[in-house]
Amino acid sequence: MTLIAPSILAADFSRMGEEVAAIAAAGADWIHLDVMDGHFVEQITFGPAMVAALRPHSALPFDAHLMISPTDRYLAAFAEAGANTITVHVEAGPHLHRSLQRIRELGVKVGVAINPGTPVEAVAPVLDDVDLVLVMSVNPGFGGQRFIPATLDKLRAMRELVGSRPITIEVDGGVTAANTAEIVAAGANVVVVGSAAFSGGTPAAYVTNLAGIRQASMAGRG
Ligand code: DX5
Ligand code: ZN
Repeated sequence: MTLIAPSILAADFSRMGEEVAAIAAAGADWIHLDVMDGHFVEQITFGPAMVAALRPHSALPFDAHLMISPTDRYLAAFAEAGANTITVHVEAGPHLHRSLQRIRELGVKVGVAINPGTPVEAVAPVLDDVDLVLVMSVNPGFGGQRFIPATLDKLRAMRELVGSRPITIEVDGGVTAANTAEIVAAGANVVVVGSAAFSGGTPAAYVTNLAGIRQASMAGRG
């Protein structure tokens, strides 16, 4: 099954607890948490305190996508706050393998992300150290951008590179009901959906939005 991970970046920040509960009730599988530091990417979003505050609002896995650099000094705080997966970027440096090992030691799932301009081979040296690879389909930093079509080839290449390893392939950025089928067919197991999940701004709209993504993902699996 393909999992849907709505990104709360597109939710109403003034009512985040309710938003998480509403998107969970609408059929989300994971909650995707976009952490931005104003340095690795332009924007600043939130840190571990927000993750901890949201934790009581849903039992779903919390998928923390760290767009921060450096990463290591914050990893324990995100695990303690209740993140179930912690993903760091290959480009965040300086010592990727060490960061991944620290995440592993914290007892949570280990993820590694690549930007659109980074080749899939960048994760080859760490494939035996991760549970998840995140293929960015927009340049990180903002929600609501257009999906970069070349990502489909990267997903196919990542699928081949991963081979028989039990690694989840996640795609993030510009995912909509219109492109989910081809994204899933190209090899993604988890789709992050920001604007297309939270558009409409009401619990009823979220149900419709996620149903559309779900239907498209099933079409993509054939
Ligand atoms: C981009 C973030 C994404 C983004 C997805 O930096 O990592 O998770 O919020 O939002 P949409 O689906 O609107 O592109
Ligand atoms: Zn993200």
